[in-house]
Amino acid sequence: MSTSITEALAAPLADPDTFIDGPPYELFAQLRDVEPVAWTPEPEPHSGFWSVTRHADIVAVSRDWATFSSARGVSLEDLDDDQLEHRTSLIDTDPPAHTALRKVLSGEFLPKVINGYETFLRGIVAKTMDSALALGTFDFVEQVSSEIPVRVLARMLSVPDTDREKLTSWGDRLVGTSDPEFADALAGSAASDQYRLLPFRSPAALEVFEYGRELQSQRRANPTGDLVSKMVEAEIDGEKLAQRDLDNYFLLLALAGQETTRQAISHAMETLIENPAVLTRFQEQPELLSGAALDEMLRWGPPVYHMRRTATADAMIGDSKVKQGDKIAIWYPAGNRDERAIERASVLDVDRSSVDLLTFGKGGPHFCMGSFLAKMEYRVTLEELVARLDSAVYDAPIERLRSNFVNGIKRLPVRVTTR
Ligand code: HEM
Repeated sequence: MSTSITEALAAPLADPDTFIDGPPYELFAQLRDVEPVAWTPEPEPHSGFWSVTRHADIVAVSRDWATFSSARGVSLEDLDDDQLEHRTSLIDTDPPAHTALRKVLSGEFLPKVINGYETFLRGIVAKTMDSALALGTFDFVEQVSSEIPVRVLARMLSVPDTDREKLTSWGDRLVGTSDPEFADALAGSAASDQYRLLPFRSPAALEVFEYGRELQSQRRANPTGDLVSKMVEAEIDGEKLAQRDLDNYFLLLALAGQETTRQAISHAMETLIENPAVLTRFQEQPELLSGAALDEMLRWGPPVYHMRRTATADAMIGDSKVKQGDKIAIWYPAGNRDERAIERASVLDVDRSSVDLLTFGKGGPHFCMGSFLAKMEYRVTLEELVARLDSAVYDAPIERLRSNFVNGIKRLPVRVTTR
């Protein structure tokens, strides 16, 4: 079959190499204008998928979970029933099962609970920032971005701080399956086949399961009220969660709880280096960070590229027809820069009065469960950073994750002066 011009345009989105210099914003802009729901061919044996790049369409797909299901997985990997049975977690479940699973922990992420962590958080951020900035020249990812979210996660799981290296490395290996530096077996390779029943096709998942199971048995014996205690105590329709559900739920938390926030913090530093006027603006008026400016920074540097849905029936997305069974990728960074939804979307403006943000999803049942926590970590980190920073430049080029799923920064070598 010959490839149409628009298919050729969208095809690079299936290739992780396209993202090695960061989000392909020009390509997203072209697609939004020319083919906002673009068929994106994938190499055999994969089926191809629709790329959705307009803000309104991304919200509509997220909202209509019955037509655009998460139950065949939220990554673009084609999964058979056996794989789904083993790998399914909260994020790849549709209501009503999703609603019950989400309730197991959603109360722990409400503002009234999360606000209770702020003093602890500010303490670790201040300490981390002081030691990092004193170095003058350092890798911001290693010294700052990786440190903060994982310490908060360790606290929420009541595990020792010394476990954070393990947690970070699991995060790298799980989301890094398309990056030769992190992958145990590169995605798509024959070697990865042996891990097909594991989340992300990564053997790191086995280590996370084992670690989680040990915590679960400790909490069954001695409940502490932490996230793991809540998980082992929870009942759905009078039944405790099965071991497989506990494994996959724990893995989702251990990953989502640190990896994305780490990337968000790295992107914030990148944004400040690229836009020194923004640093000055925050220093003049730090209270901006408690308002829409925070969302604007998250709009500019979104950690997640896409989530996948699968059409349960023939349906329309905007003016485009999709067929039952088709895969659909909703590209958050593309929607975040859509002029149809956000005025002067191609301009970073921390003085906006509001931002219609897609970075955490929008409008659907899967809207990020940890968004309040992530935003608190992000805000406190930025507040403590801008209070200390005088100037920052790159000391060497940024190294990015080879992935079309997570907008990751592996290394961010910086040279800084302080106030
Ligand atoms: C800046 C950091 C973060 C970003 C950008 C982010 C982004 C996202 C996105 C895009 C989704 C899917 C939304 C959808 O499909 O509609 C999601 C779901 C989720 N996030 Fe986050 N996230 C972040 C931090 C966190 C944190 C700190 C946690 C805490 C553990 C967390 C836990 C979750 C969970 C459990 C889900 C699945 C929710 C469900 O399926 O109902 N995230 N996140």
